Amino acid sequence: MPYTLYPLPCFIKCDKCCGFCRRPGEPPLDLGCIPWLGYALEFGKDAASFLTRMKEKHGDIFTVLVGGRYVTVLLDPHSYETVVWEPRTRLDFHAYAVFLMERIFDVQLPQYSPSDEKARMKLTLLHRDLQALTEAMYTNLLTVLLGDTEAGSGWHEMGLFDFSYSFLLRAGYLTLYGVEALPRTPQSQAQDRVHSADVFHTFRQLDLLLPKLARGSLSVGPGMQGQRSPVEAVVPSQAGRPGAQEQLAGELPAAPGGDGRGNMGPAAFWLLLFLLKNPEALAAVREELEHILLQAEQPISQMTTLPQKVLDSMPVLDSVLSESLRLTAAPFITREVVVDLALPMADGREFNLRRGDRLLLFPFLSPQRDPEIYTDPEVFKYNRFLNADGTEKKDFYKDGKRLKNYSMPWGAGHNQCLGRAYASNSIKQFVFLVLAHFDLELLSPEAEIPEFDLSRYGFGLMQPERDVPIRYRIRL
Ligand code: HEM
Repeated sequence: MPYTLYPLPCFIKCDKCCGFCRRPGEPPLDLGCIPWLGYALEFGKDAASFLTRMKEKHGDIFTVLVGGRYVTVLLDPHSYETVVWEPRTRLDFHAYAVFLMERIFDVQLPQYSPSDEKARMKLTLLHRDLQALTEAMYTNLLTVLLGDTEAGSGWHEMGLFDFSYSFLLRAGYLTLYGVEALPRTPQSQAQDRVHSADVFHTFRQLDLLLPKLARGSLSVGPGMQGQRSPVEAVVPSQAGRPGAQEQLAGELPAAPGGDGRGNMGPAAFWLLLFLLKNPEALAAVREELEHILLQAEQPISQMTTLPQKVLDSMPVLDSVLSESLRLTAAPFITREVVVDLALPMADGREFNLRRGDRLLLFPFLSPQRDPEIYTDPEVFKYNRFLNADGTEKKDFYKDGKRLKNYSMPWGAGHNQCLGRAYASNSIKQFVFLVLAHFDLELLSPEAEIPEFDLSRYGFGLMQPERDVPIRYRIRL
């Protein structure tokens, strides 16, 4: 049942809604000034500023019209817990995923069964195969990182974003989609480097178009007709590519909120940049890594992986990762409202949501950037997630009440990211290898940290509006 015959803006500009287009108990409704589009333009331009403005106007729950869709935005972190644990029969996560796959990749998933798919992925990413994936990632990181840079070849210059994104995506691609030959030979590794560099190049082209593709403001142009679809271009045929993880290729669809694999590089970029801009943090991480190297049974040149036990005992690097993600992970947590339902808020209020509308949580604003929860929320503090005794800090408060979800880079509840263990293992291994094998410096240490590319809110990790030049060389 639509709100009005057509989603027209309210012509009577009063502060209190007249109720013409609302039912009792619904959140405040704001249709904006442009028929059908509503707030689509403002939303797409800079969602964080738009939602902050709307929060000041309406409070922590409201409904806005965005491109013909009614989106109810919930910004009270104490109330997120109910939403993320609602059953799929009431709030559905996959409808939006399927919609995005169709819009971006022109891919239809006829026999798509989210629960079968998820059971398989859970086994692969979180349980049975995690150790194999982590080991393969370590080797593939070495293949691309050290193979591309000759020892003794002096300083190399490039952008830190390009550096982090390309190496992590290339190693991740080889890990999940297989390598040229097993056991690896110098020739097959050289081919892996060339092939994965091609994949990164194509992936990045698509990634740059992602915000426009997802918002539907870009259609397949005449020049692209008859060509491979973007998804075919990014994930070429795997026929004949061996590797321990070969069988996984078909099991890992893109995660909504952006392709998960495309999030690891930007996450590593921000983490390394914050370290390079904060000498105290870098020293603390280095100290932790040196301790690990001292305890290791082999010298670093002979190490084939970082065992899970070691990866789990890096509280300083864990805190740095959590803090980097708090500042830069800005996914939209979106659910389709499947039936008319009453949404209970943590403070006792209750709001009616209509079937067919979309519910949106934006943890980037609250809890992640909420000054009531984090002092100086815009500032990177490497030990924010550490207790005085060096253990992980997990107690954060709002309105005097302890928060269950105090940072949500991986989402939460039923649809929490399945790749989170693999992704954080990979990022930590990458940082470990970079710091252990390279000297890495900012070319302009005084330059400011770049602003975000504002069109990317909602797609997972934010990206910088410009790259940051660095130089690096292999440590001898
Ligand atoms: C820094 C890296 C990553 C971040 C920040 C991230 C974040 C997220 C977020 C926010 C969600 C949606 C949660 C929701 O809507 O409730 C998600 C879902 C998902 N992610 Fe990730 N992700 C990352 C890496 C990965 C990787 C590397 C993979 C796989 C190789 C992956 C696989 C998935 C899958 C399969 C889902 C869907 C879960 C479901 O259907 O319930 N992610 N991720």
